[in-house]
Amino acid sequence: MRYGLLSRMLFVGMDLFYGRKRTLSKFKVLEVIARVPYQSWEQVSYIAMTHKYREPDFARRIFDFISEARHQQDNEQWHLLILEELVHRKGVREGFVRYRLLPQLIAFFYYHVSWLLYVIQPRLSYELNAHFEDHAEHEYMEFVRENPELEATPFSSVFERDYGSFESEADLFRRIGLDERQHKEESVTRMEQPRFN
Ligand SMILES: [Fe+2]
Ligand SMILES: [Fe+2]
Repeated sequence: MRYGLLSRMLFVGMDLFYGRKRTLSKFKVLEVIARVPYQSWEQVSYIAMTHKYREPDFARRIFDFISEARHQQDNEQWHLLILEELVHRKGVREGFVRYRLLPQLIAFFYYHVSWLLYVIQPRLSYELNAHFEDHAEHEYMEFVRENPELEATPFSSVFERDYGSFESEADLFRRIGLDERQHKEESVTRMEQPRFN
């Protein structure tokens, strides 16, 4: 995809703060941010629901949209929890400011950009998310390509029952990458439709 100004600023900013190299810690930052558009859409939709619940067809469509956003949010949540588990197990050291504070600040900012764009024109918000997800998909796939040893690294997790079991960490990251592709495609589909359709 050709990225817009906002998404390019975000990706360049992330490279500046976290380096160009793809690492588990950098992916974690990505996942902290990835959840917030879905949270913002859910929030805005519940407000819409409060105003429109007397129109059953419209309310139904809002609810379907909320369900989709919640499902995507949960999916991003598993990505984050699994990455955190891997970082912990591999004993990766992470500084508080760069890996706790800053991601939360970026996520806070991104949340507000996301709902504001949604209120101005939903398409803009979906487009920003589609770019974000497209970038995430490519980053995960490149990560697997750059680290062939992942093919021989067995995967185990306390979240296997929630997210799935995989023979290797390479398979895990490919699955996460495919999730990001699906998120992108859902946003692209929404871009082509009016509000809540
Ligand atoms: Fe994700
Ligand atoms: Fe995603």
